[in-house]
Amino acid sequence: MTERYAVIGRPVSHSKSPWIHAEFARACRQDIEYGRIEAEAGGFAEAVGAFRSAGGRGLNVTLPFKEEAFRYCAQATERARGAGAVNTLLCAAECSGDNTDGLGLVRDLAGNLDFELRGARVLLMGAGGAARGVGGALLEAGAAALVIANRTESKAAALAERFPGAKARSYAALEGEVFDLAINATSAGLAGEAPKLPGGLLRKGLLAYDMVYGRDTPFLAAARAAGARACDGTGMLVEQAAESFFLWRGVRPDTRPVLARLRAA
Ligand code: ATR
Repeated sequence: MTERYAVIGRPVSHSKSPWIHAEFARACRQDIEYGRIEAEAGGFAEAVGAFRSAGGRGLNVTLPFKEEAFRYCAQATERARGAGAVNTLLCAAECSGDNTDGLGLVRDLAGNLDFELRGARVLLMGAGGAARGVGGALLEAGAAALVIANRTESKAAALAERFPGAKARSYAALEGEVFDLAINATSAGLAGEAPKLPGGLLRKGLLAYDMVYGRDTPFLAAARAAGARACDGTGMLVEQAAESFFLWRGVRPDTRPVLARLRAA
């Protein structure tokens, strides 16, 4: 019997998740249907309830509902609790939540980009839902330092407290610091802007990673101009999707052909 899954968010019309999961299902011979649910602001629980009543088995949760999804779940995994955010719901009599964003990023870095996180000095920019989802995984993967910087400094300090070992800084206070990896987890790129980093931070030898996918953000353009290696979040998108697929179906899809096709498009 065909089992139903979907991505829920607002907006979701441009989401690549339905295409990615259809590719995984085809390759792994899984009989699933994967749709899109655009929930009203304040209408998350109702939309999930309707999906579950219609027999829906699992959801990917995207902006702006990841924190609400965490509160909605009857149970959540340790990594979802650490993030305080859920991107994957498994629906049965009760709903359980997980967060595959952090693992998706780590897998992209290690598996697709050949970046060694162990011992790396990492700058994480932003303190919203996107940053929350990945901080714990970066430390667990062995980052030697995790510095969280945000425009609103109090939010960086609050987020750093969630992740033992992380430190908070203002953008200006990064002057003179040297990083191996700088991750843009802000939404600045969507508005055609970039976090205001001190000169010299973007340099040759740095991997600059923007969690926004499918567009060349000002952050990535500046990084490239400074001689850094620049990557968008397409690989993370595919890797977190593969982990969700595995949680639902017990089969781990090969991400490489799907990532190659997305990049070529
Ligand atoms: P998300 O869930 O995508 O993280 P969010 O919770 O709205 O979305 O958080 C957006 C993040 O991008 C915040 O860290 C925000 O900084 P503030 O906390 O200071 O608002 C950051 N951000 C958005 N636009 C930005 C810009 N132009 N420059 C720097 N940071 C920006």
